[in-house]
Amino acid sequence: MSAPNRRDFLRTSGAAAALGGLTILGAPARSTAQANTVRTAVIGFNSRGQDLVRRCLEMEDVVITALCDVDSRVLERTVAAVTEKQGTAPTAYTDLRRVMDDPQVDAVFTATPNHWHALIGIWACQAGKDSYIEKPACWGVEEGETLVAAVEKYGRVCQIGHNTTRPNGTARRAVGRVWNGDLGTAYLSRGLCFKPRGSIGIKPDDNVPDWLDWDLWQGPAKRRPFSTRYVHYNWHWFFDYGNGDIGNQGVHQMDQARWFLGRDLPTIVSSSGGRYGYVDDGETPNTQFATFSYPDGIEIQFEVRGLPTHDEAGVKIGNLVFGTKGYMSSGDSYRLRGPDGEEVPFVDGTELPHVGGAGNDQFQNFIDIVRSRQVDQLNCNAAEGVKSAQLCALANIAYLCGRTLNFDPKSMTFPGDAEANSYLARQESAPGFEVPAPNKV
Ligand SMILES: NC(=O)c1ccc[n+]([C@@H]2O[C@H](COP(=O)([O-])OP(=O)(O)OC[C@H]3O[C@@H](n4cnc5c(N)ncnc54)[C@H](O)[C@@H]3O)[C@@H](O)[C@H]2O)c1
Repeated sequence: MSAPNRRDFLRTSGAAAALGGLTILGAPARSTAQANTVRTAVIGFNSRGQDLVRRCLEMEDVVITALCDVDSRVLERTVAAVTEKQGTAPTAYTDLRRVMDDPQVDAVFTATPNHWHALIGIWACQAGKDSYIEKPACWGVEEGETLVAAVEKYGRVCQIGHNTTRPNGTARRAVGRVWNGDLGTAYLSRGLCFKPRGSIGIKPDDNVPDWLDWDLWQGPAKRRPFSTRYVHYNWHWFFDYGNGDIGNQGVHQMDQARWFLGRDLPTIVSSSGGRYGYVDDGETPNTQFATFSYPDGIEIQFEVRGLPTHDEAGVKIGNLVFGTKGYMSSGDSYRLRGPDGEEVPFVDGTELPHVGGAGNDQFQNFIDIVRSRQVDQLNCNAAEGVKSAQLCALANIAYLCGRTLNFDPKSMTFPGDAEANSYLARQESAPGFEVPAPNKV
């Protein structure tokens, strides 16, 4: 273990500390064996969160001390299942702010809807806890900056759930080959999300069911009347909560597209498309094309096709990266092709530093670094995950504005563009759920 950190201090001192407005009571001192155990809380587990619960149960010296969901049916059955498998009962919470107050929690894993991700990460930092946040790292552009600022300011470990690519040895090798110049000069990186999505129908506003805390579900988002059109899962297709498929399945491929080129945020962004093929309640486009241009002319393109379509060079959900000497495709497998289209054996080559824990998976990597505090060994830290999520959010802003936008990555604004700037952060939040500005965290 490295030098004692804030959590260890709190754990062993029994002191009470006020952190960012949240009062944390220090836990009783623990033995050396107990101190190696990472005590986790999982927040939000209707679907993806079940994988987080399962992995927390599987990993060595990891216990689930708390579970939190605003759907009482999901909460009750998951508490029962975890109690049976683990032999000890986690504390059940509906309000995730109480998880932040709980001194028996070292780290939170969260798979709530996107509009909650950044705020949970920020509150976890302020409460002296580490966090594993499902992708996308943030719903909006500015809150992503706040998350990164909070991680730095409070010295916490924060991993983003890009679990299919970042810890994958082949993906790391593929990126290493592009960075090594095996494609010549890489000038274009395309992310593809060709995943058919059906209509979600048309549903009325409704009474809030007795199993749901709708106010907590909405958290930092603008208030809307309850409807089953949002809960569960279909919130992805509403701009107040989700980011469309570009920020759902697509953010994995956006992250890979950006990773191939080693780029951050662009200076020009454009996006167009529509919701074609059916009429339903959904707001986000099911067909979307976005471009991100950098000052040296390098470009990232992203395409969402939610209706039946053909593949592109064998890829439907994956990436294509083009260089002056060839191109690489990644879908089910990674393929490198030379100047005449001939396949170049993809055996070994330049490798990015191999990081990660046993099984090289994203969850174990997080737990290993919660223990070691070697944050440079994280597979996908907050800063990296946030940039990829911000690309998705920028594309949606250009889509909503209906025009090409100039972006300034230094000021993180669209200079002189009041309409575009109005989408960078929420215009209204319910009291108690406001996301602080990056310099106020
Ligand atoms: N990394 C991956 O491979 C992967 C795969 C699927 C989903 N995801 C991500 O996981 C997240 C969840 O997706 P899903 O399909 O499980 O959504 P879902 O709507 O099915 O489940 C969300 C859960 O969060 C709960 N919740 C909402 N607000 C809450 C709050 N304030 N406190 C506690 N619980 C709250 C809901 O009641 C529900 O149980 C999304 O952000 C998605 O992008 C990641």
